[in-house]
This record gives sequence, C-alpha cells and structure tokens, in this order.
Amino acid sequence: MKKQVVLYKKLSAPLMARLHEQAEVTLIESLDTQGLAKLRDALPRAQGLLGASLKLDAELLDLAPHLEAIASVSVGVDNYDIGYLTERRILLSNTPDVLTETTADTGFALILATARRVVELANMVRDGQWTRNIGPAHFGTDVHGKTLGIIGMGRIGEALAQRGHFGFGMPVIYHSHSPKPAVEQRFNAQYRSLDDLLQQADFVCLTLPLTAETEGLIGTRQFALMRPETIFINISRGKVVDEAALIRALSNRQIRAAGLDVFEREPLNHDSPLLQLNNVVATPHMGSATHETREAMARCAVDNLLAALAGQRPVNLVNPQAWR
Ligand code: DGY
Repeated sequence: MKKQVVLYKKLSAPLMARLHEQAEVTLIESLDTQGLAKLRDALPRAQGLLGASLKLDAELLDLAPHLEAIASVSVGVDNYDIGYLTERRILLSNTPDVLTETTADTGFALILATARRVVELANMVRDGQWTRNIGPAHFGTDVHGKTLGIIGMGRIGEALAQRGHFGFGMPVIYHSHSPKPAVEQRFNAQYRSLDDLLQQADFVCLTLPLTAETEGLIGTRQFALMRPETIFINISRGKVVDEAALIRALSNRQIRAAGLDVFEREPLNHDSPLLQLNNVVATPHMGSATHETREAMARCAVDNLLAALAGQRPVNLVNPQAWR
C-alpha cells in the first residue's frame, strides 16, 4: 500500500510525478488560515511530511500519530523540536550541501551592496536624483583587502571564506566551536575569540544555525565591540541577533551598515525601523532562492522522504538517534 504524504510546499511537475508514483499525496498549497486547517485535517493519516517555513511543534505533531518521517526543504532545522521527534522516532532530514554556494553568493551580494551602497545609489538614479557627478557624500568603502570575519565556520562559512580569500584578497578571521585547521590552511584563515573577531573584522558575517546556544548571541555588548567602520551581515537566522540592539547600533552609527537576509520575525513588518535606515540593505530571506537551488533542495527532500518511507536511512538524517 502506498504511504500517505502531506506536502506543505508546491513542487515542480517532475518531482510531483515522482512522489505520486510512490505515495498518496495531499498538497497544502499555502500556509494561510485555510491551508493550516487543511493541514490539521490531513495530519491524522500522514506518514510523511515535506515542506518548509512552518513551525511544527508538539501540538501539531500530536495530531499525526502515524508520522514516520519529515523532510524539511531547508538546511536550518530550527522549526523542529528534535528531542521530541527523536523520542517519537520520527526521522527528520534536511537539505544541506545543495544550497551552500548559492547562500554564500547571497552573503557576498550583501557585502558588496552594503559596502558600495548599491541599493541606495541605484534608488537615487531611479528617483531622478543623479543630477551631477557623485562626490564623497555618496562614496562607499572598499571590499577587497578588508578583513572578513565569519562567525560559524560550517559549509556556508567556508564558501564565504573561499569567495573572500580567492576572489577579493581579504584576510579571513573566524569564530566557531573549535578551530578548523583545514580551513585555516585553505584560506589562510585565523581563529579568533568572538570578542576579538567583533573588534577586528571589517565585515562581521553570521552563518551559524539558530540553537538554544546561539539565540541572542549578538546584542548590545557585541555591537559595542564593533567599530564605526564595521559592516554587519546576517544570512543565518534573525533570532541570533537582538534586533532592537542592532537598530540602535545602526541608528547611532556605532556600525557603518548592515546587510540582512533574516529577521526576528519574518516577513519583516513594513513599519520596522530597519526600513527607515539608509545604511540597511534588507532582503526577503532569499539566501538559497534561485530556480536551480530551490529545485535541487526540493529534489533532495523528496529523496530523503522516499528513502525514509521505504525503510532506508535518509542521506541527510538530522536525528540519527531516531534511526533504529
Ligand atoms: C534554509 O535552508 O535553512 C534557508 O535559510 C531557508 O529557510
């Protein structure tokens, strides 16, 4: 008998066809109030779930007594209570690797956009304000040769280091759980304590996951350690940062600028003070959002789910303790 799968994310036609061959599929087209009600109706028969951007808490999962596997179309797994899933032996998988390069590209886009004031100056041209050659009031700051500070030297951190080191001749410093000799060798990178990195980096880039340990990691004290030239980039999760402290640091010109792809609450409220600041480039959590990468992520999630439902260990299993 085919397994029951609930999808809360639309997939491409070829992936849908693949899933339909092997499973009975219920598609929740959107996560609005109606969609969420449909999801609650479908959960009691679900054996597999596939989707993203939904906090699947115990209250929802308790509606799904037959659930065997969840395939998240994301690398981040902060939407899941891993302890609870493991207790219930529900296999959680994610989609690392396929999005690494694209997400690092987004990080570099934010580095360049903030340092060279790309959005602000492009808007000036669009608004008909380019009436004479621009002068120092509109100059940006160099990226090449500046010190790139990376907090969280995982796959995406490494891809960012690669771009900075080989592409822009940037000295790379980093902070993570422990030093990584292979990274140091490849990118001539140097390990720093968090405080030293915050004081020394021209670009402070967050690429670490949201966990109980990293929530609120960067707040008032950490912004105070940065310099007026520092540019702050966040492509990890908004809650790693105390957003109110960030807004104060930007408003007081305690730091130069921020490039932000993630926020405490998403979508970002239209009246967020961040949007009043011209030293902020804000993007809509688009780290991995290219056609190619999102398709690769979805394919990876389908592979993970079908493997789990067939009794095989998914390649990207997040909670190996749940595996028999
Ligand atoms: C990820 O894959 O975790 C991206 O941030 C999208 O949520």
